[in-house]
Amino acid sequence: MAAPDPRRTESLPLTTVVSPGLARSRALNRSALEDPNRFWAPVADELHWFERSGPLFEPTDSPPYGRWFPQWTSNLAYNCLDRWRGTPRWHRVAFHWEGEPGDRRALTYAELHRESERFAAGLRAAGVGAGDRVTLYLPMVPELPIAMLATARIGAIHSVVFGGFAASALAERVRDSGSRLVVTADGGWRRGKVVELKRTVDEALRATPSVEKVVVVRRTGQPVASDRDRDVDYADFLRLGRGPVAPVPRTGSQPTYILYTSGTTGRPKGAVHGTGGYMLWSYYTMRSVFGLGDADLYWCTADIGWVTGHTYVVYGPLLTGATSLLYEGAPDSPKPDRWWDLIERHGVTVLYTSPTAIRSAMKHGDPWPRAHDLSSLRLLGTVGEPINPEAWHWYFREIGGGRCPIVDTWWQTETGGILISPQPGLAAFPLKPGSATLPLPGVDAAVVDEQGRPLPPNEKGLIVLRRPWPGVFLTLWGDEERYREVYFRRFPGAYYPADFCLVDDDGYFWLLGRADEVLKVAGHRISTTEIEDALITHPAVAESAVIGRHDDLRGESPVACVILRPGHAPSSTLRQELADRVRATVGAVAVPSAIYFVEKVPKTRSAKIMRRLIRDVVEERPLGDTSTLEDETSIEEARRAYEELKRELARPPP
Ligand code: WTA
Repeated sequence: MAAPDPRRTESLPLTTVVSPGLARSRALNRSALEDPNRFWAPVADELHWFERSGPLFEPTDSPPYGRWFPQWTSNLAYNCLDRWRGTPRWHRVAFHWEGEPGDRRALTYAELHRESERFAAGLRAAGVGAGDRVTLYLPMVPELPIAMLATARIGAIHSVVFGGFAASALAERVRDSGSRLVVTADGGWRRGKVVELKRTVDEALRATPSVEKVVVVRRTGQPVASDRDRDVDYADFLRLGRGPVAPVPRTGSQPTYILYTSGTTGRPKGAVHGTGGYMLWSYYTMRSVFGLGDADLYWCTADIGWVTGHTYVVYGPLLTGATSLLYEGAPDSPKPDRWWDLIERHGVTVLYTSPTAIRSAMKHGDPWPRAHDLSSLRLLGTVGEPINPEAWHWYFREIGGGRCPIVDTWWQTETGGILISPQPGLAAFPLKPGSATLPLPGVDAAVVDEQGRPLPPNEKGLIVLRRPWPGVFLTLWGDEERYREVYFRRFPGAYYPADFCLVDDDGYFWLLGRADEVLKVAGHRISTTEIEDALITHPAVAESAVIGRHDDLRGESPVACVILRPGHAPSSTLRQELADRVRATVGAVAVPSAIYFVEKVPKTRSAKIMRRLIRDVVEERPLGDTSTLEDETSIEEARRAYEELKRELARPPP
């Protein structure tokens, strides 16, 4: 089945809506674009700066065409923690943490400050200084935000790697960033089992000479191998240094972190976020989208290893002084009502999660949430992939009890924070299931065709951002050229997010999925090429083509067409080996849901894989629009390739 067009399955007519909330949202958007310095100055005033010199915003000739707070200095950790000293927030809980086995821990702002300062002292004693890189490969435990804040405090740069990534993926990220220190845990809990993080680190570090030290958090307590010269227990590490540790001022253009994300090649891109602009954007979007007050308990379910976790589990909530829930494990452990139980017991008021999580809860069935009192909730959010209206309505009805607005928030790793979203705090804000609604202040979004010409309403095209917003990423780590090439060359003067989009008659934005070789599997961002690169390392594989197929639960799932080398025959054992290879190289989320053995994969004359055509076959659709077929391939050739592949895939599996 092909992906449904969300607007078509939606029964509400798209009549034009008028509301004070929308009018206000549009007005704010415009005024931030007209005079960024004036619009953002009062927001910047709410944050702490060590020094303010020069302009807040300064246009530039080269990408991203503007710099935020280029000479103002600040420190992200200071603004998250120290800023609350002497206010009532200081002794309020920042994180209520719950482990999968049910163990609990609460950390106030004061405690978080104390522990991250001790960790910062340890880092300093270990010789880590401003600008040095630190890789964090941890489960969802409080030590992860603590380590992030400690790193930011001393002006070092963290690179958090999602705990679901396998050894080679981790090694590549450690190598590329040139990290000197890695923080990990013996393991983490996931569905009652231990995820052996330390073991993966040991394997990854065999090929990463830059790492001098590995700090190991004791989480599960199982025995792990230890390298006496290199490994140190977290508890001992905290005793290494001596505080206090003054926060190191950083200019707006100095990096706070690198977050690796997938692109169209197999090599991940290290998106670099700065300090002042990123901080302002995390703070502002957190406030205007979620509008938390003292009575709120906020819960963003994202793993900190992805950007949603960076901005809306750690930095945004702490910058706004929020109290959050942090949960270590799986949603269905020990039973499918774990989340609903957490919400009821803790009294969560705002829930921010992914469409895949909602669909999977739907699949488990209504009785699970219905067995719990979810009346504490007042606002719901989604992120990471388009939400189908059916899931939206279920979320609204079953989880929100028909009371809670849903903020469908569109953004990316590169954008630092939310760009398009409802702002329920701005008076009545009409929602349309499946639409992220309107751009936030300072976001100049438009939909254009392949040539960059603006498209009229209701026509699907490519979204572009014509002006830099405060959260824009600064560069790709060590690869400025790729930064310009991938994001700014296609449409000169604009940032190219590589998402399909249309704007309806009300000016509402409908984000319709990726326009490149990137997959969103259960909201996780994976590149098809990364999976192909993993498959090719198997001696039986000559070539492969991976595409994303629509998946009712996970949004998309990878499907691989594999050509074998002479002397190798298709078999179910081989299929299993290939799946294992992907799991061991990239990680479990990347394992293809189907692997087809084929004689050849359809290619253009210039040898580019015709992915759209493969997708049409795999999703059992007629051959799609051939008018914009990849370079100079004739319609005839495309048809032939389509029929051939269809025959091949129809063959009974070995
Ligand atoms: C997709 C996640 C539709 C989109 C924050 C984008 C969405 C990619 C939405 C970035 C949404 C994110 N509606 N699609 N509300 N939010 N996406 O870097 O394709 O992991 O380009 O950042 O997720 O994924 P990333």
